[in-house]
Amino acid sequence: MTDSPQRQRVLLLGCGKMGRAMLEGWLKGGILAAEDLLVIEPSADVRAQLAGQGIIAVASARDAAAARGKDWRADLAVIAVKPQIIAEALPPLPPLMADGGCVLSIAAGIRADTLAGYFGSGIHVVRAMPNTPAAIGRGMIVLFAGPSVPPSLRSQCEALMRVSGRVAWIGDENLMDAVTAVSGSGPAYVFLMIEALTEAAVDAGLPEDLAALLARTTVCGAGELAWRSDEDAATLRRNVTSPGGTTAAALEVLMAPDGLAALMKRAVAAAAARSRELAGGN
Ligand SMILES: NC(=O)c1ccc[n+]([C@@H]2O[C@H](COP(=O)([O-])OP(=O)(O)OC[C@H]3O[C@@H](n4cnc5c(N)ncnc54)[C@H](OP(=O)(O)O)[C@@H]3O)[C@@H](O)[C@H]2O)c1
Repeated sequence: MTDSPQRQRVLLLGCGKMGRAMLEGWLKGGILAAEDLLVIEPSADVRAQLAGQGIIAVASARDAAAARGKDWRADLAVIAVKPQIIAEALPPLPPLMADGGCVLSIAAGIRADTLAGYFGSGIHVVRAMPNTPAAIGRGMIVLFAGPSVPPSLRSQCEALMRVSGRVAWIGDENLMDAVTAVSGSGPAYVFLMIEALTEAAVDAGLPEDLAALLARTTVCGAGELAWRSDEDAATLRRNVTSPGGTTAAALEVLMAPDGLAALMKRAVAAAAARSRELAGGN
């Protein structure tokens, strides 16, 4: 990485939606230069686009030596393939890793000790859970590293993730299931909110186009206000609620005992349970 005394060589495995978004962020943010990177990605189209940016990309680990020289080793490998690809994609990587290097995986549900098992001792493992707003630099990225991962590697992983949004660390890997259920899956809950508000707007008599515009703009505008404000969400909510007014009438429904809070708790619990099941291979 460009801010460290010695350049870091980074291998990116998988240049799909998340991998591509991170890579663009690293280049734009000056965190990495094209020549620091090696990308492994089966799509010829994607490899051609990367070549146009001066990035060396190969179809598989087998081609790495021919592309970068037989002595090239990655200080850091970012794993951005689907979890179901991990068992086939990771075994060829260890010969490409420098001793003491680090594997940073965003693959949902694949535990650190499982990842470490592919690389053996001497390679550190860090897990990250991003979400889709990471594609526009507004993601929430939660990181986990075991106690043996040195602070310098934690900082490097954090710097790579920070280009995609806000970063937080957890010290207990088991919390990743709850993280997945809240920030990982959370964007879908917000998109559903737009859909539901659109449907309610149509029910209330608005034409469909206007209903969709109102719902989307309101959710996005309120989200941006919450983002920029120093006030907490409850204060922002109270700021739009006059006693006996229209908002109060709606909130009486949404805040009823079987309202949104109860529903959200059930939804998050269901997502966390599914995350635990998937991590167990079910
Ligand atoms: N999207 C999210 O919201 C989100 C959130 C949190 C975590 N994640 C995690 O991020 C990871 C990537 O997700 P994504 O949405 O970016 O998936 P994606 O768009 O499908 O990207 C995966 C990329 O990996 C490539 N690939 C497949 N097999 C490979 C191999 N053997 N070696 C190297 N590359 C290979 C795929 O190429 P082809 O398309 O040609 O097969 C594709 O370009 C997943 O593990 C997911 O759990 C995603």
